[in-house]
Amino acid sequence: MTHLVVVPPEVPREWLARLDQPEAGCEVIVGIDAVPTPRLPEVVGLLSLLTMPVDLELLVRLPALRVVSNMAVGYDNVVIPACAARGVALGNTPGVLTDATADLTMALLLAAARRIDEAALDAREGRWHTWTPDGWLGVELRGTTLGVVGLGKIGYAVAERARGFGMQICYVGRSDHDHPDAAKLGAQRLSFTELLARADIVTLHVPLTDETQGMIDAAALEQMKPEAILINTSRGAIVDQDALLAALTTGRLRGAALDVTSPEPLPPAHPLFAAPGCLILPHIGSATHTTRRRMAELACLNLLAGVRGEPLPHPVALTQP
Ligand code: DGY
Repeated sequence: MTHLVVVPPEVPREWLARLDQPEAGCEVIVGIDAVPTPRLPEVVGLLSLLTMPVDLELLVRLPALRVVSNMAVGYDNVVIPACAARGVALGNTPGVLTDATADLTMALLLAAARRIDEAALDAREGRWHTWTPDGWLGVELRGTTLGVVGLGKIGYAVAERARGFGMQICYVGRSDHDHPDAAKLGAQRLSFTELLARADIVTLHVPLTDETQGMIDAAALEQMKPEAILINTSRGAIVDQDALLAALTTGRLRGAALDVTSPEPLPPAHPLFAAPGCLILPHIGSATHTTRRRMAELACLNLLAGVRGEPLPHPVALTQP
């Protein structure tokens, strides 16, 4: 039996070659809008991206859908109760993007601490007149404290890297227990409030949920150390951007480096782009050749298992704790 699956046009087709192999038994249509209306009830598998809302409306259009395979570790684009109600399996791509995202987090951390963006722009635009003893001064990482909000795979990988730079690590985790490998990093578990007060640099590694949405709000920013730095490579909506803008504009924060914003893309006229010490990237945490191919590969494996009615290699629990 042939399985009709839909893949997004944005993914290079060669990354999805597994779906085209005869043993996959799939007919692949590129783009949901390319599926002829009479064939929508035949679609059993959907490979989605984090930019694609997977909601009830979409699921109603695809009554035979068995699996949504999200090519991302995050799945806040998917309405979980809608999948659960319909018995549609959901897969994601954890693990393979840990190193790429942790590397990018360190790049942002270093860029913010050493004012790389601002200095490079000044050099390019003719404001580099001579070497001056007090030009473009930043902060050294050795001895500073990194507060990791969410010590999951990516948070841990960031903490490991930061230890290599001589930083002290504190963290907040989901459970009331210490992370089993926290001692290896000399990392101290704190409450969220304690972490904000202690860290020189705060880095966010939590999924976007009802609990984490807006968790870095005006009150949280106010609790951070004067001249602290905020790094976000998780999801934009975890930060209240208006509050962040105010904190940067008043100099309450030294800087912020964001790989993620809300919305994405952030309109170029958005005031955060012009805020002092604010560096914004277009959500490139996992953007390495190796990682993106691995994400596509895992997404294919989840998709194929789902259309065959087998357990997904990387399932998302549809009953959230
Ligand atoms: C993910 O997989 O959730 C990332 O945000 C993509 O880089």
